[in-house]
Amino acid sequence: MLAGKRVLLIIAGGIAAYKTLELIRLLKGQGAAVTPVMTKAASEFVTPLSVSALAGEKVYTDLFDLTEEAEMGHIQLSRSADLVVVAPATANIMAKMVGGQADDMATTLLMATDTPVMIAPAMNVRMWDHPATQRNVETLLEDRIRIVGPNVGDMACGEHGPGRMAEPAEILNAVRNALTSGPLTGKHILVTSGPTHEPIDPVRYIANRSSGAQGAALAKALMDLGADVTFVTGPASVAPPVGARIVPVETAAQMLVAVEEHLPADAAIFAAAVADWRVASASGKKIKKQDGALPTLEFAENPDILARVSQMAAGRPPLVVGFAAETHDVIENATAKRLRKRCDWIVANDVRPETGIMGGTENKVTLVTDAGSQDWPRMSKTEVSMKLASEIAKALG
Ligand code: C5P
Repeated sequence: MLAGKRVLLIIAGGIAAYKTLELIRLLKGQGAAVTPVMTKAASEFVTPLSVSALAGEKVYTDLFDLTEEAEMGHIQLSRSADLVVVAPATANIMAKMVGGQADDMATTLLMATDTPVMIAPAMNVRMWDHPATQRNVETLLEDRIRIVGPNVGDMACGEHGPGRMAEPAEILNAVRNALTSGPLTGKHILVTSGPTHEPIDPVRYIANRSSGAQGAALAKALMDLGADVTFVTGPASVAPPVGARIVPVETAAQMLVAVEEHLPADAAIFAAAVADWRVASASGKKIKKQDGALPTLEFAENPDILARVSQMAAGRPPLVVGFAAETHDVIENATAKRLRKRCDWIVANDVRPETGIMGGTENKVTLVTDAGSQDWPRMSKTEVSMKLASEIAKALG
């Protein structure tokens, strides 16, 4: 699958470096060549000998090794690969990338490279959650660095939460998506997914039953065809697609900001179940029970993200696709919605509870375009996604 491809693999100094040995094995198993680079700290966790033995290549470690410079200068080395992967990417190396520092071999290569870069962050949960790291993640996404993971789970330090490096198989999958070409290679597609949570007070919120399954499956299908996907997701119960640029949000207002920040795109697919209303003035404090008196919630309308993007005066994505969850008159409502919002396509589905579609694994879709409507048979959300992704590829082709 990856024959003829070369990955420049930068191993930074984290305990997850031991998992990178397995990643090297998987990459080699797919036919990729791996040029390993280790930071000084990385060699405290795994030995250069193990890395080099598995990669079957020399390990680069020191910027100032004159023999190495003579054999292959660091600029040339940085551009010798199809993809640069940093795994594990520590908080430190991420901060250096953001700051443009180049004080060792690994960071110099990252500054000098003109090939796409993917990082697999791995760190303690508090370090991941730290505002500095979160700021850095945002900047790296803006710099179009691909981020895989981190996952939520138990950590070597005994804590639990986000910060665990993505599993080697997940990183391999993301590498494969980045390196193999398909009809959507070079296309940036933005997908919104999941429900939104609209706060009532700090502990309560209004939500809906969307699992995020359709959006995640669609993002994966688009990536399988080579697309570079930005996935703006509300708090979904289904895991976000590995290999996409994940932008987590909670509310509709945050989703709008995230969408605007991540345009331009060749296509924008709005699969999120965005709350139509939010509580007009969410309380900053938990609303207390008062004897006999019931709280009254006032609502305000949320921005319609799909309509806004469809009606952008400048920079509108060439293809804008909305979803319509309907319980009756599916085609009539979807057709009217397409015209009202001014999107190009509407993917309509029947979400009457007896269909089991909302939160389920199957979907029954009607695609409404300016050419009319197409009824698709009931199939899995994965199959719907593959069919839709190939229609999108045709439209953008
Ligand atoms: O109007 P309705 O909510 O049925 O429209 C559904 C479509 O509009 C979906 O594609 C959904 O993602 C999008 N939408 C949106 N912002 C909203 C409400 C819906 O982007 N506030």
